[in-house]
Parts: sequence; structure tokens; C-alpha cells
Amino acid sequence: MRIAVIGTGYVGLVSGVCFAECGHDVICVDNNEVKIANLHKGIIPIYEPGLDVLVKRNVKAKRLHFTTQIPEAVKNSSVIFIAVGTPPLPTGEADLSYIENVAKQVATSMDSYKVVVEKSTVPVKTGEWVKRTIRFNSQAGVDFDVASNPEFLREGSAIGDFLKPDRIVVGVENKKAADLLEECYKPIIDQAVSFDLEKQEVIHQTPQSNIVPFLVTSVSSSELIKHASNSFLALKISYINAVANFCELAGADVEQVARGMGLDSRIGQKFLNAGIGYGGSCFPKDVSAFLEISRELGYHFNLLEEVIKINKTQRELFIRKIKKAMWIVKDKTFAILGLSFKPNTDDMREAPSIDVINALLEEGASIKAYDPVAMNISKELFGDRITFCKDAYDTAKNADALILLTEWDEFVNLDLEKIHKLLNYPIFIDGRNCFEPADMAKLGFDYHCIGR
Ligand code: NAD
Ligand code: UGA
Repeated sequence: MRIAVIGTGYVGLVSGVCFAECGHDVICVDNNEVKIANLHKGIIPIYEPGLDVLVKRNVKAKRLHFTTQIPEAVKNSSVIFIAVGTPPLPTGEADLSYIENVAKQVATSMDSYKVVVEKSTVPVKTGEWVKRTIRFNSQAGVDFDVASNPEFLREGSAIGDFLKPDRIVVGVENKKAADLLEECYKPIIDQAVSFDLEKQEVIHQTPQSNIVPFLVTSVSSSELIKHASNSFLALKISYINAVANFCELAGADVEQVARGMGLDSRIGQKFLNAGIGYGGSCFPKDVSAFLEISRELGYHFNLLEEVIKINKTQRELFIRKIKKAMWIVKDKTFAILGLSFKPNTDDMREAPSIDVINALLEEGASIKAYDPVAMNISKELFGDRITFCKDAYDTAKNADALILLTEWDEFVNLDLEKIHKLLNYPIFIDGRNCFEPADMAKLGFDYHCIGR
């Protein structure tokens, strides 16, 4: 298959490289010239485990190409995935102007039949607008289909998620488009290509038939599956965070409660980790966009409003917890471990660290911080308002309290005795429930966590 992927960000680059690994001929497009120039030099714009090796291998095998030119990519491909950003507008709606812009450029470049696929997360009905935009802007007589193929990968495990998804969803208007999309995904559906998480390498194996469910739906249902899935996961997190707050009042332990709930297979263990609320580039914006499109269509989705409210409150409660642990925040020095919104990524979009650090700075505190990979992006964000350290121990040294915000493995495996010695006071405020309160007490820490 000849595939174009427009938008070479987290989703576009991972999708492009994985399709190339499946044996397809892929051209990735981005209008960010620096990004494309760097990719030509082998410089990967994001931190995503395993991605650099895969990009290099597929470029070398001449299956993966990069360009800034949409016409070149469209003319050379039969399936065109749109993977540009759909960021939030101040109203909470998704900003679809990037999608419209790309749809217009695709339309004017098409010279033969193409399937144009929304891979970006978009509100229901976007497919109809994309179709109309392409129809208005393309040459008469050029045939095309618009399809939806939402992406469910997570940052930090993106390659594994893409190559071994729980399901592949395609929303189409006819069999021709469904068949072309099935051909793109065939090696993944049959698990001829998969990813070894431990070794961080792709494995090519004998295909087995139809292992990964390939679900064909209408375009609207497919668009809705994505918003409904992300919002459901966000709801699960807000639910357990609300339970955690209740546990603190009731003297129960949210970790035990979540374990007991999750053993019911209808509930499941995943996404029941209480903490400082969800962040990242997706849950916050997608829940808001789902709420807004519901409003537009005439349905008041109150439940989603509550999910958003609980998430916002969770960060405020955490900041209050810090103040309560410290008594006075002004002139205190805090050691912050973890800046990215979750481990194994350098993504800082909607990271809880931003709110926590800003709140402490406003109160007159000093901040020392460290993150295994998000240091450069954080330096751009915070500048010289905070001190960046070389590792966790350097951060803890002479700080008045330690605050853990991202559960990177290297923080979960800290030498706690050493940390205890380095801190001015043994105050440890854990936003991710990484340690057992009893163990921390034994080590002499004044340990604060969530819902326990
Ligand atoms: P991103 O910001 O990392 O990447 C988007 C890219 O599109 C950027 O490199 C940008 O330069 C490029 N772009 C914008 N306009 C362009 C144009 N006119 N021509 C060519 N390139 C253009 O975004 P992302 O995180 O990859 O997300 C993309 C979409 O996928 C969003 O809708 C998001 O909700 C969805 N999604 C993201 C994830 C994730 O984990 N990040 C997972 C699933 C779905
Ligand atoms: C999420 C979804 O998991 C993906 O399926 C989806 O494709 C993606 O959004 C998207 O649409 O962009 P991602 O944002 O990369 O992926 O990360 P998650 O692992 O889902 O974590 C999201 C946030 O929830 C993080 O801040 C994380 O710390 C938080 N979280 C997660 C919790 O607080 N508790 C949990 O139990 C799980």
C-alpha cells in the first residue's frame, strides 16, 4: 500500500513508522519545516521508547519518507491519514481549523481515487464537513471516500499499542474504503508484526488470521467511539479520585478499595489509580470537546461536567495537601520529581506539574526539579523561575520537602534512605501513591499520599 500521513506528531509519526514496518510505502508530511529537516537527519522530535530505531530502519529500507509538501504525498498515495492536532478552543470545543486546512490541500492535490481518513480525534459529524470541504475544493470527476479511523495509542507505549491494539475501528460509507483500510492494517490484524516491550524491538512472525478485532462502523459511530472511550477512561479516573477523597474522610485506603473493585472483571484493575488527576494532550481536551458537541446536538451531558470538575478539584486538593503538610509554604524549597504528565514521555501538555509548581511559586516558594526526559521542554516552560537538577538526589539535597508528581520507574526505585538524609526535613508528598505508608513511616518520613 502507498500511504500518506499528514501531521508528523505523536500519532502521525508513530502511525507512519508502524505502517512502514508493516511493509507499506509511507510518506509523512508536516508543515513544520524544522521537524521535517530534523527527521531527514535522523533527529526524532519526540521522546517515545523504540521510535528512533524504527524510524532509522524504515528510512534506510526506503519505506519511510518525509516531506513538507502535501501535493507530493497525496499524488503518491491511495490512503491519506490526517493526523494533525485538534487542540481545545477557549470554549472547550475542538479547534478543527487544522483539519479543514489539510482537507482543502488534499482536495486540490487529488488526481485519482483516494480514501481520506480522519485519524485525529474529532467530534462526531466532522467526517461530513471533511467530505463537503473536499467536494467543494477538488477537481470535478475525482472520486474519493472519507473514513474515520480513531487512534487509541498511549504516549510512552505508543509503538506497542499501535502494533497490538485491543481493536481497530474504521468508520466508512462503503466496502471499498473498508477493504483498503483493512489492507493497511492486515499485518497488525493477523499479528504478523508485533512489539516486544522489554527488548523494545519489533518482531515479525508467522501471521495468524484475524487476531485483532477489526470493527467496521458508520463514520459517525467511529468518531463517537473515540470520544466516548477517552471520556469513559477519564470518568474512571475521576471516579477513583472521588473515592480517594472519600477514603481520606472515612479512614479507608483507596488502594485496597480499588483492588477490591478491580477484581470484579466487569470493572477491571486498569485506570483505577488515584492521584493528582489526569493530564496530557488528550483526556482534558477530549472530555471538553465531547461535552461541547453534545451541547451543540441538544444533549446536556452533565456527567462529563462532573468528570472535569472532579479532575480540576483533585489538583487543587493536592496543592492544599502540600500547604497542610508544610504549614508555611513561603520561603520553603521544594524538590519536585517528575514533570511530564505521565512516565515514559516528554509531553508536558496539561501536566499537573505546571499547576503545582505555579501555585507554589505564587506562594513564594523555591523549586528544584528533575525529570528523566522532559527537562528541555520544562526549561522552555519555566525558564529561570525554577532550578533544574541533574538527578533525583541532587534535587532532594537541602530541600524542605519532596513532591513526587510522575511515577517514573527511577523514582519508584529510589534509594529512600539516601533521600531521607539529603532532605532538610523528611517530608514526602506523593501524588502517585508509589509507596506504602507503613514502610515510609518506618524509614522516618512524614509521608503524605492520596486517599490513604
Ligand atoms: P501533535 O501536535 O504532536 O502533532 C500534530 C502535527 O501536525 C504537528 O507536527 C504539526 O506541525 C502538524 N500539522 C499541523 N498543521 C499541519 C498542516 N497543515 N500540514 C501538515 N502538518 C500539520 O499532535 P498529536 O499528539 O500527534 O495528536 C494528533 C491528533 O491525534 C489529535 O487529534 C489527538 O487528539 C489525536 N490523538 C493523540 C494521541 C496522543 O497520544 N498524542 C493519541 C490518540 C489520538
Ligand atoms: C490516553 C488514552 O489512554 C489512549 O487510549 C488515547 O489514545 C490517548 O489518551 C489519546 O486519545 O490521545 P495518554 O494520554 O497517552 O493516552 O495517557 P494515559 O496513560 O491514558 O494517561 C492519561 C492521564 O491519566 C495521565 O495524566 C495519567 O497519569 C492519568 N491516569 C491514568 C491516572 O491518573 N490514573 C490512572 O489509573 C490512569
